[in-house]
Amino acid sequence: MTDPTIRVRSPVPGDATAMAHVHVLAWRVGYRGIVPAAHLASLDPVARAEAWQELLARAEAGDGQPVGPGTSISIPVVADLDGRLVGIASYGPYRSAGGTKPAALSELWMLNVHPEAWGTGVARALIDHVEERLRVDRPEPTAALWVLERNARGRRFYEKAGWAPDGATITETIGGADLVEVRYVKQL
Ligand SMILES: CC(C)(COP(=O)(O)OP(=O)(O)OC[C@H]1O[C@@H](n2cnc3c(N)ncnc32)[C@H](O)[C@@H]1OP(=O)(O)O)[C@@H](O)C(=O)NCCC(=O)NCCS
Repeated sequence: MTDPTIRVRSPVPGDATAMAHVHVLAWRVGYRGIVPAAHLASLDPVARAEAWQELLARAEAGDGQPVGPGTSISIPVVADLDGRLVGIASYGPYRSAGGTKPAALSELWMLNVHPEAWGTGVARALIDHVEERLRVDRPEPTAALWVLERNARGRRFYEKAGWAPDGATITETIGGADLVEVRYVKQL
């Protein structure tokens, strides 16, 4: 048997449905028992796919904002495992979600991997790619991300990748539940 091939790349409009599917499934499995079940059940992959489709079509048409200093949008990337899209991530400027403003001004906005691809190295390939892009594209020396306090698997993953909590927390209401998020940072 040959080793699985992981490829990280920019998404195209035709990826929208797979991206939405990965996003919704990662949430439903990863946040089970953390985010209210009714909220997880209500996540709509069709609406998400339409939103991705529109955003990616605009980017393809040259209507999207370029990445770089001053950009105010997030940049999506996707990962294929043996040719199948199983991971999505996005990064951009720090969104100032709350807490004291860290020295870090870049942010990993989101990272989601299809549960069937957990433990395969796809998530690591995605975060390595995002960190490299942030190093090259953005002027800030440090990046931040927010992760749910109770997301043990996510936190373990980030810690193994060299990220550490900086002490800031916020409480976000998701599906009617008040959930604590902790901020992690990493020197790039
Ligand atoms: C977070 C995510 C991207 C990580 O990808 P992954 O493929 O699961 O990551 P890995 O398997 O490489 O690493 C996860 C680590 O957590 C460990 N882990 C597994 N289950 C765990 C659990 N219930 N509690 C704590 N750690 C756990 C794994 O064993 C592994 O650590 P190890 O390599 O030391 O054994 C993926 O799980 C995911 O998409 N989750 C749902 C969405 C999410 O949480 N996104 C990030 C939020 S900001």
